[in-house]
Amino acid sequence: MEKITAIRGFKDILPQDALLFRKIESIARRIFDSFGFREIRVPLIEKTDLFKRSIGETTDIVEKEMYTFADRDQELITLRPEATASVIRAYIEHNMHAAEPITKLFTIGPMFRRERPQKGRFRQFNQIDVELFGEEKPQADAEIIFMLMHFLTGCGLQNLVLEINSLGCPACRPSFSKAVIDFLKGSEANLCPDCQRRIHTNPLRVFDCKVETCAATIARAPAILDFLCADCHDHFTQVKSFLDDLNITFAVNSRMVRGLDYYTRTAFEVKASTLGAQNAVAGGGRYNGLVSDLGGPAVPGIGFAVGFERLVSCLPDDGTNIFKTDLFVAALGSKAQKIAFGLTNQLRAQGLSAEMDYADKSLKSQLKRADKLNASFTLIFGDKEIEEQQALLRNMQTKDQQAIPLDRLPESIIKIIKER
Ligand code: HAM
Repeated sequence: MEKITAIRGFKDILPQDALLFRKIESIARRIFDSFGFREIRVPLIEKTDLFKRSIGETTDIVEKEMYTFADRDQELITLRPEATASVIRAYIEHNMHAAEPITKLFTIGPMFRRERPQKGRFRQFNQIDVELFGEEKPQADAEIIFMLMHFLTGCGLQNLVLEINSLGCPACRPSFSKAVIDFLKGSEANLCPDCQRRIHTNPLRVFDCKVETCAATIARAPAILDFLCADCHDHFTQVKSFLDDLNITFAVNSRMVRGLDYYTRTAFEVKASTLGAQNAVAGGGRYNGLVSDLGGPAVPGIGFAVGFERLVSCLPDDGTNIFKTDLFVAALGSKAQKIAFGLTNQLRAQGLSAEMDYADKSLKSQLKRADKLNASFTLIFGDKEIEEQQALLRNMQTKDQQAIPLDRLPESIIKIIKER
C-alpha cells in the first residue's frame, strides 16, 4: 500500500525535540511569570477579516500566505498566521482593559503560513507570543526587549544581534511614505513586478522584498528615522537610553520595517548568525493604533513573537535532550515476571520512571535494553533471588550491586533513587 506522508512544510516534532520544546516552554513560563505576564490560549482559527484588518490587506502574509477556507456556512475563516490579532480580539471581546489598565499576556502554539518551505521556514510553525497592553511609555518597550533577550540567553542562545528601528506614527509616516514613493518612481525599472505594484499599494513593503535585484535599489531609499516627528524621535531616543541602562546591546537598522502593517514607533528583530538565510529568531514592535482599529478602546500595545523551531535549532547541544529512565526491572522467569509487573506499575504510579520487558529474555539482553533506555538502576531477580527473598539493585553507571529485601521493595528503591 502506498504510504501517506505529512503535507509539505508541515513537520512532526519527534519526542527528542518535543523534550526541548518542553524545556523552553518551562523557561518561558518562569521568566514571563516574573515579569507579570499571564498565559492566554486563543483559537487556531479566526474570521478571515481579523487578519486582513490587522496584518494588512497588501502584506505578503494576507495576499499570499494565509490558509483561508469557506466554512460549511460559507463564512471565510483562516488558520491563524500569527497570534497578535487573536490575542487583541480576545482582549477586546473580554473587556480586559476594564479590569486591568495594564494587561500583560503570552501565548504559545502553532501558526500557519503558506510560504515556500526551506531550512527554518515551515508552513506550520510554533511561536511564543507576548503582548503588553495599556502602556505607551518607552520603559515598556525596553522592558519587553529586555525580557526577550533575557529569555533567549536564558535558553542558552549566543551570538544574538538585536536590531531596532522606529516606524513613526500616523503623524510622520505619510511624509516618509511620500518620499519613498517619489524615490521608487525614479527607480521603477530596477524593481521586481511585485515592488512595482507595491509603489501604488503599500510602498513600505518594498523594504522586506526578498528579491535580490531589489535590494541594491532599496538600500538607497530614504530612511524612516530622518522623517520622525518630534514625539516619535523623543520616544525612540528614550527607548535606546533605557536599553543602555539595562545593558542591552543593539544596532539601529533604519531599513527594518517588519512584514506586518500594524507597527508604530519601535520595531525590533533578533537575529542568530547560526540560522542561515532565515535568521530572525524573534521579531516584534509597538502597535498603538491596532486595538482601536479592531474595534477596541484606544489602548497602545507592544509585543513580540519568538519562532520556536528556529530557537530550538540554535540551542547548544548540552546533552539535556536525552530520555532517561530511573529503573529497569529485569525479571527472569515467570514468578519474577509476575512480581515485576506489579512492582513496575506501582513505582510508576509513585512518580518514578520504570520499565520492564515482558518477553522474559536473557539477563544480557535485558541489561542491553536497560542501557538503551538510559536507566540509572536495574533491579535484577529470578527464582534463586525469590527463594532468598531479595533482589539485586545494580547502579548502571558504577556497576555496583546491592541486595534489597523483597518485602521492602518499593520503599527501598524509591528512597535510594530519590536520594541519589
Ligand atoms: P513575525 O516576524 O512574522 O512576527 O514572526 C515572528 C517569528 O516567528 C519570526 O522571527 C520567526 O522566528 C518565526 N517565523 C515566522 N514565520 C515562520 C515560518 N514560516 N517558519 C518558521 N518560523 C517562522 C509576528 O508574527 C508578530 N505577530 C510578532 C509580534 C507580536 N509583534 C507584536 N506582537
